Amino acid sequence: MVTHKNGTPPIQPNGIYARIVGWGMAVPDYVMTNDEMSAIVETTDAWIQERTGIKERRIASDKESSATLGYRAARRALDVANILPIDLDLIIVATSTPEHIFPATASLIQDWLGASRAGGFDLSAACSGFVYALDMAAQSIRSGSIRTALVIGSETMSRVLDWTDRSTCILFGDGAGAVVIQASDQPGGVLSSVLRSDGAGCDLLAIPTENARENGEHKVNRMYMAGSEVFKFATRVVDESLRQTTEKAGISIEDLKLIVPHQANQRILATVAKKLRLDMDRFMSNMDRYGNTSAASIPIALCEAIEQNKIQQNDYIALVGFGGGLSWAAMVIQWGVPQRDEQRSRLNEQRRKAFYWFVWWRRRVLRWQRSVNNFTKRFRPKQ
Ligand code: COA
Repeated sequence: MVTHKNGTPPIQPNGIYARIVGWGMAVPDYVMTNDEMSAIVETTDAWIQERTGIKERRIASDKESSATLGYRAARRALDVANILPIDLDLIIVATSTPEHIFPATASLIQDWLGASRAGGFDLSAACSGFVYALDMAAQSIRSGSIRTALVIGSETMSRVLDWTDRSTCILFGDGAGAVVIQASDQPGGVLSSVLRSDGAGCDLLAIPTENARENGEHKVNRMYMAGSEVFKFATRVVDESLRQTTEKAGISIEDLKLIVPHQANQRILATVAKKLRLDMDRFMSNMDRYGNTSAASIPIALCEAIEQNKIQQNDYIALVGFGGGLSWAAMVIQWGVPQRDEQRSRLNEQRRKAFYWFVWWRRRVLRWQRSVNNFTKRFRPKQ
C-alpha cells in the first residue's frame, strides 16, 4: 500500500505530465572478460569479482563511438514509443566521451535520425548525466514548452581509460541507453528529482583535457580516480538523495518497487541497501555483464529491468546516479505506458523504415552536392 504523505502524488497545476513511452539500449558485440583483463594489467578474475561484482564488460570496435551506440539505442526507443523522428522536439545526450567537443553528439544523432524539428545538446555530468538529462527533458515537457524528447546516455569509456592503471580500467565498459519521454494528461511519470554537485571533490575523479590548468602527474584525456574516496562519497549520497526525492514525491522509500542505480560497484549497492534496510532484490543490477558504463548505465539497467518484467503499470521506481563533479542525482517515476495499438504500430514501423531510407539518401545527396559545389568553386571567376 503506497503511503502518500498528502494523499496523492504531486499534481501539476497545468495538468501536463512527463511520461516515459519508449526505451532502447545498444552495446558493442565484443565481450572482454576479467581473464582477458588480467592479460593487460596485473589482476585476477577473483579480485575483480570480489571487490566490484563485475565479470565482463563490452568494448567498442573502431567503427563504434558514443554517437553510433546512442543512435542504435535511440532507434529502438523510437520503435517502442511508436513515433517518427520528426515528432521529436528535443534530443539530449548525456556523455563524457563525445566524438567532438562540438558538434554535440546530439547533433550527429539528430542528423542520422532525420529529427529535423528537434533541438539538441550534450550534457556533461559524468555518471549522473542521464538523470540530469531526463530531469531537463521532463521539466521542459511539464512547463508546456515541448511535447516529446529523446534522452540518451552513451559512452565509450574504453577510449579514455588508462590501460596501465589496474584500479580504474577494470571497472568500466561501453554502451548506450535511450528513452523517449512525452507529454501526457495522465498523472504520473517523472514525479520528483534532486540534482546536486560538490565541486570540492573535482580532483577525485576526472578526465583532464589539454585545457586543464594543472594536471599534476595525470595523463591528458585519461581517467584517474581516488577509488576509496569515491566509494565513501557514493554510499553517502545515494541513500541521502533517495530519501530526499521520495519525500518530494510524497511517498516513502518502502513504496519503491525498484531502484535503478548507477552500476558502479556491487559493494556500493550492498552498503546502500543495508543503510536503507531494503533487500538487494529491490536494486536493479547488471554490472556483472557490462561494468560501469557511466552515463549509459542507468538507461541500460532500466531497459533490462523492463524486459525482465520487474516494473509494472503504476509502480514507483527511482533512478539514482553519482560520479565525477562530484555530482549526484535521484528521481522518482510513477511508471505508466500507454496501451499499444498494434495496427498503428505496424503502420508506423513501415513509415519509420521508409523515413530512415529517405533520410540516409538525403544526407548523401546533401554531402555530395556540397563537395561538387566546393570543387566547381575553383573554376568560377573571382568577383
Ligand atoms: N587487481 C588486483 N589488485 C588491485 C586492483 C586490481 N584490479 N586494483 C587495486 N588493487 C590493489 C591495490 O593496489 C591495493 O594494493 P596494496 O594494498 O598492496 O596497495 C589493494 O588492491 C587495495 O586497493 P584499494 O584501492 O584500497 O581497493 P578497494 O577495495 O578500495 O577497491 C575499487 C578499489 C576501485 C574497486 C573501489 O575503491 C571502488 O569501487 N571505488 C568506487 C569506484 C567507483 O564507483 N567509481 C565510479 C564512480 S562513477
